[in-house]
Amino acid sequence: MPVVKANNTNISKAARIIKNAGLVAFPTETVYGLGADGLNPIAVAKIFETKSRPKFNPLILHVSNKKMFRRITNYNSQLAETLIKKFWPGPLTIVLPKKDIVPDIVTAGNPTVAVRMPDHKVALELIEKCGVPIAAPSANDFGRLSPTTAQHVAKQLGGKIDMILDGGRCSVGVESTIIKIDDGGVYLLRPGGLPVEYIEKYTGKIKRKTADTKKPVSPGQLPFHYAPNIPIGFFNKRAFSKYEGKKIGAIFFEKAKADYNFSSVKILSAKGDLREAAANLFLFLHEFESEDVDLILVERVKETGLGEAIMNRLKKAVKRYQV
Ligand code: TXA
Ligand code: MG
Repeated sequence: MPVVKANNTNISKAARIIKNAGLVAFPTETVYGLGADGLNPIAVAKIFETKSRPKFNPLILHVSNKKMFRRITNYNSQLAETLIKKFWPGPLTIVLPKKDIVPDIVTAGNPTVAVRMPDHKVALELIEKCGVPIAAPSANDFGRLSPTTAQHVAKQLGGKIDMILDGGRCSVGVESTIIKIDDGGVYLLRPGGLPVEYIEKYTGKIKRKTADTKKPVSPGQLPFHYAPNIPIGFFNKRAFSKYEGKKIGAIFFEKAKADYNFSSVKILSAKGDLREAAANLFLFLHEFESEDVDLILVERVKETGLGEAIMNRLKKAVKRYQV
């Protein structure tokens, strides 16, 4: 089905598709999600097939209200309550012990479940109309760029899913921050759209590593991810000599710096704003995928605030190509 406008009629249609075990891509404030009924294992299995996603990689359940959250999690944590009150709806995913109602395929057999309440009208209305939490990874092929517009979704998953709800551009542009709360404390599983420093105001210092480093529990622990289909590297001399005479696209943070005849130059945020930079990151990488360049070179940004999420995504992309 083609991309459709996210109006009331289409959101209702989308809810029916999801209740009938189909797949719908929908907007959130971070990136577009590929949604299925999170309590129906058959529907959830379709997400893994469609994305060619390894089954060891668990999914986030998206809720629209606290009652739904309590239906799926089994933990009385004052800290979780505080964070939810402060940051939901918003780009924060919390991993907590799950209730039996959550199918194993959602959590990849883990006794915990990742939950978030997206800060997007369309997403919230869709979940509300479904009446069940929606399981949704980013709506892209596994390991590739996350979509921040409905057209990005159509480019990768077009023909393979039942509906794409178009709600415009995602305002945050990088995936949610994922933390895990257990008796041992609070752990960062993936930096994302909510700066870790904001969360630490309520939790104290967040630990950067979980005890179990063998099994990848988050993309943060996979070697590469989030990659465009063109080689990408950080600015380095070797890349310039290796790609001499070839078409290079450049991404700078605030202003163009290197003295080279780039075929295309993109500036993440002319006013040096990390929020704007994060919102443009995947968008620019998608643009380069349809421009005629042989290599993308990108400037590193400061790893504070949203800069941590930006650099996390870029490092994973760069690792794939070893430019
Ligand atoms: O912003 C976002 O988080 C977007 C939108 C659609 O909500 N979703 C997203 O989903 O980025 P995904 O599947 O691409 O990344 C979520 C990650 C998974 O890769 C997984 O490693 C981690 O969350 N995760 C899910 N359940 C977990 C669990 N029980 N324990 C540890 N990590 C978990
Ligand atoms: Mg993803």
